[in-house]
Amino acid sequence: MKLLLLGSGGREHALAWKIAQSPKIEKLYIAPGNAGTGNVGENVEIKADDFSSIKAFVLDKGVDMVVVGPEDPLVKGIYDYFQKDPELNKIPVIGPSQKGATLEGSKEFAKAFMMRHGIPTAGYKSITAANLQEGLDFLETLESPYVLKADGLCAGKGVLILPTLEEAKKELQEMLSGMFGDASATVVIEEFLSGIECSVFVLSDGKNYKVLPVAKDYKRIGEGDTGLNTGGMGSVSPVPFADAAWMKKVDERIIRPTVEGLAKEGIDYKGFIFLGLIKVKGEPVVIEYNVRMGDPETESVMLRVKSDLVELFEGVAAGNLNEKVLEEDPRSAVSVMLVSGGYPEHYDKGYPISGLDKVKGSIVFHAGTTLKDGQVVTNGGRVLAISSYGNSKDEALAQSFSASKIVDFEKKYFRSDIGFDL
Ligand code: AMP
Ligand code: GLY
Repeated sequence: MKLLLLGSGGREHALAWKIAQSPKIEKLYIAPGNAGTGNVGENVEIKADDFSSIKAFVLDKGVDMVVVGPEDPLVKGIYDYFQKDPELNKIPVIGPSQKGATLEGSKEFAKAFMMRHGIPTAGYKSITAANLQEGLDFLETLESPYVLKADGLCAGKGVLILPTLEEAKKELQEMLSGMFGDASATVVIEEFLSGIECSVFVLSDGKNYKVLPVAKDYKRIGEGDTGLNTGGMGSVSPVPFADAAWMKKVDERIIRPTVEGLAKEGIDYKGFIFLGLIKVKGEPVVIEYNVRMGDPETESVMLRVKSDLVELFEGVAAGNLNEKVLEEDPRSAVSVMLVSGGYPEHYDKGYPISGLDKVKGSIVFHAGTTLKDGQVVTNGGRVLAISSYGNSKDEALAQSFSASKIVDFEKKYFRSDIGFDL
């Protein structure tokens, strides 16, 4: 099979690494990819949301399947683009339809979907400039801290958690008057939930589904979960509190009603569903849906998927995922992100990376790298994800931390407390 994977981050390198191991793969293309994906497949200079160039490439090379890494092409409707085109509609796209992607593309849609299907989530109200007063009144009924979410995609920056009512009211008005452009023309005000979070990944063919290994990510830049939010500083799988009893509740109360709800509403969904969950008084509650794999969770989750991922994708495409097997590796897997000094604020790019060939016992996934005159250089805030197995989380972490010291570039930074709260 010839498979085209869209995207360019650490998530995509981890997916490409796993896909390339399948005996079914004759050729793996990654568009646009990074310096790491080029080692497991062939990078193609096409942006992940340039649909017409993707079409031309797919037809030219005889690509048999397209797997979508990031949310952007999904929210822009790549699934529907393929479905509607007579030349493309026999080629499966692993990823939801545009309507399905609205679970991530609109917080308001996601909340209303959960309400319709009785899926546990924080109480909320959806506010626009037209019902601002209702929003201000609703804030009065809540307790500190206050959660404000821009309805649309904001590259992970659209959630504000504010300590005082005064700030919440002020920020609500600023969001509505364009703080995040159109994305915050509608704001979801939510009740604050307190608890520990985890990421649950489901692969669905629209009717049947498989649950992938559960992971936890670490979003803040500073140790002890302090400082600014980032795209993710590391991840750990498995998550001890997500045990069989808890996952049974997650399945019954959240996963099944989600997959059935999508089907009942006639929403085509053949792809990953990412449930951002929080454990509140022992019970699972949904914080958010995403319509793709998580980053940097994928960089540990893929290590724990023993089965052939491409065979699972075939099950998604054919609608017989129930006949496939998803076997988990019992070992722990972790990923530690090496980032550019200054990230998530100002940082520089283009620093040469050394020591990549000296790492033993870890898998180095590239997140923000590129090749410059044959040399791998930094090309983003998050640069490399150092992933390792271990018989315990601590053993895997010790391995990743030791490899994190071998790989080097100017102003390298990483959190040495990944997994601290588990
Ligand atoms: P989201 O983009 O919806 O995942 O929100 C980003 C982060 O904000 C989440 O991972 C949580 O840590 C936090 N968060 C979002 N909603 C809530 C909530 N209702 N209560 C507490 N924390 C929240
Ligand atoms: N790790 C969280 C995300 O991918 O959105």
